[in-house]
Amino acid sequence: MEFSIKAGSPEKLKSACIVVGVYADKKLAPSATLADAAAQGALGAIVRRGDMTGKRGTALMLHGVTGVLSERVLLVGLGKAAELNDKTYAEVLRAAFKAIATSAATDAMVTLAEIPVGERSLADKIRAAVTIARETAYRYDQTKSRKEDPATLRKLTFTVDKADQRAAGRGLAEGVALANGTDLAKTLGNLPANICTPTYLAQAARTIGREWGLKIEVLERRQMEALKMGSLLSVARGSVEPPKLIVLRYNGAGAKSAPVVLVGKGVTFDTGGISLKPGEGMDEMKFDMCGAASVLGTLRAVAEMQLAINVIGIIPATENMPSGIAIKPGDIVTSMSGQTIEILNTDAEGRLILCDALTYAERFKPAAVIDIATLTGACVIALGSVNSGLFSPDDALADEICQAGRNAGDPAWRMPLDDDYQDALKSNFADMANVGGRPAGSITAACFLARYTKNYKWAHLDIAGTAWKSGALKGSTGRPVPLLTEFLKARAG
Ligand code: BES
Ligand code: MN
Ligand code: ZN
Repeated sequence: MEFSIKAGSPEKLKSACIVVGVYADKKLAPSATLADAAAQGALGAIVRRGDMTGKRGTALMLHGVTGVLSERVLLVGLGKAAELNDKTYAEVLRAAFKAIATSAATDAMVTLAEIPVGERSLADKIRAAVTIARETAYRYDQTKSRKEDPATLRKLTFTVDKADQRAAGRGLAEGVALANGTDLAKTLGNLPANICTPTYLAQAARTIGREWGLKIEVLERRQMEALKMGSLLSVARGSVEPPKLIVLRYNGAGAKSAPVVLVGKGVTFDTGGISLKPGEGMDEMKFDMCGAASVLGTLRAVAEMQLAINVIGIIPATENMPSGIAIKPGDIVTSMSGQTIEILNTDAEGRLILCDALTYAERFKPAAVIDIATLTGACVIALGSVNSGLFSPDDALADEICQAGRNAGDPAWRMPLDDDYQDALKSNFADMANVGGRPAGSITAACFLARYTKNYKWAHLDIAGTAWKSGALKGSTGRPVPLLTEFLKARAG
């Protein structure tokens, strides 16, 4: 989809569809008022008759309105002015793009950036509109022989005042970069595990690296052995797919500036291993690499935005499979950190691959490390699909991430990480066990990771509930690319 900015009076601009707002008190938004005057009161009359009440989320498509140059006029309900915030504004935009999508219009002119939304800047509103338009247009058809109908809408123009064109252009460019990163994460998540293997992820990372000027390194099994990554390797043992440790670097700031390191869980399929999962819904464990996908998507977005910050992405990628040589419950492995782990459940594999990647992250002397993982079913029970789980011993870092999530409409909720929960990981035979039982399952998983992240500022995002949707709308959401991108944007200043 193509996006552009235009200054000028909306009724005098030609398009297939002009989109204007109507408030719940039947008051027309500024552009609607101009269009109404050009149409000699035709729009106001429709509103007075009650065919468009201004109720938020409603839309009414009009054709051939005399006096307006565009072929169609889409009236969109804004609801009450006082109730307009990020969420309700997004609802309005979704309704507008849905209505356009059901028409034959191939281009549209959107005037809704003029609507006041809390403290939001013009650039914020345009960014939101771009990402929502792209969300509506997203299709997954990589593995369908009959391709989905592409979105008919191909070109969107936002009208703004002449003086605001620059700011609007910035918001637009940011929105496009964010949508590109989010779409990349979605598609990698949606691809089946027989295509999206660790090798495929490494290849995708190489392609992104080439296109966006990122340095890339892919460590093979032999190199992991040399680094003594016994925990990561123990998960990979059962699979014939070779594991990869992918390291991508974006340099947007000076060499002296400490990087933010993002570590993404890349289990391309999680059967549970010898602690095999039950069959129902197991297909969804192809999404167990959504943390990795979010790291790749974020790096792509950050590179396209040319943020002034250094970011390193680390992705431990492997399958978790049962086999004759797979790790077994009771086996003990030695992690790169030297700490030993009794593997009581081979299905708690995410923490086993993350701990070695987190130890590896130390060499970059990071300003902060955030790991992103579809780590626990317990997190889905605790927070559902609204908030990602956020764990950090560092209050300032946790606040920063929460704030970024709120700003981006991709929220996270901080969970406790008291040392008292560490007792659950006691083992009679090793330094720790890899599971802590059912109580507080997402917290004890984070406690396990905390034992490997003592040497830098660290936060953990459990995205088990937010990375994908189940049911009829089954598919990857691309979360938390918006949160991470917003976090890095704020850090870059
Ligand atoms: N990838 C799963 C977590 C998961 C499960 C995410 C269901 C989304 C939906 C993870 O590897 C896992 O299997 N975790 C176990 C941990 C348990 C054995 C302590 C879980 O949550 O059941
Ligand atoms: Mn598992
Ligand atoms: Zn898993």
